[in-house]
Amino acid sequence: MRFDVLTLFPDMFPGYLGQSLLKRAIDAGLVEVCLHDIRNWTQDKHNKVDDRPYGGGPGMVMMVEPVVACVEAVRPMDDDSGHLVMLTPQGQPLDQAGVERLAQHQRIVLLCGRYEGFDERVRLVLKPEEISIGDYVLNGGEVAAMVIIDAVIRLVPGVLGDAESSQCDSFSTAPRLLEFAQYTRPREFRGLQVPEILLSGDHGVIARWRAEESRQRTQERRADLLEET
Ligand code: ADE
Repeated sequence: MRFDVLTLFPDMFPGYLGQSLLKRAIDAGLVEVCLHDIRNWTQDKHNKVDDRPYGGGPGMVMMVEPVVACVEAVRPMDDDSGHLVMLTPQGQPLDQAGVERLAQHQRIVLLCGRYEGFDERVRLVLKPEEISIGDYVLNGGEVAAMVIIDAVIRLVPGVLGDAESSQCDSFSTAPRLLEFAQYTRPREFRGLQVPEILLSGDHGVIARWRAEESRQRTQERRADLLEET
């Protein structure tokens, strides 16, 4: 699976890409992440990527030329031109079903904005899928792009070991239930005991207890999920 990230801040990524599961997946050749600095596709001598909005108002708007030039240069870098995603608070909110849809693509091109957003013509020309990771405003799309990469690679075959299988994740089963409570050693911490049932060794009983825990937790915290079809 290949991700291309188009950003004004490529240096935000290597720390995240160099750790844990993602590092393992990249080292194993299962996932490739290519970073592209939008500033390299500017057409003026000052490398200008943003400008003041027509009509006035605060902030700066990302200019259409460098963004479109960058996307149009990056997509042909692979035989598969990829699925183009724009990260924006105006996009469709991402959920696990959306992550599953994205994971069906072999290549995803992630376009990160900054400032007050993109010139509207970026949307009109490129027709990206627009995705928001939640109803709050980030300083830019970079963290949202990392969220997408993080969630999608969990579904790429071979990235998770058997022990970490995403089949058991909250939200991958219908109805979507929250995860049951987990415990590890020690058996007691500040008077709080690990539930006796988990020490019983009876896998059937444990599975039923966990299923009931999941249901109760979901009822208490996210009853809206139980109402979904
Ligand atoms: N850029 C700024 N805020 C965002 C959000 N909530 N989701 C995706 N991209 C964003």
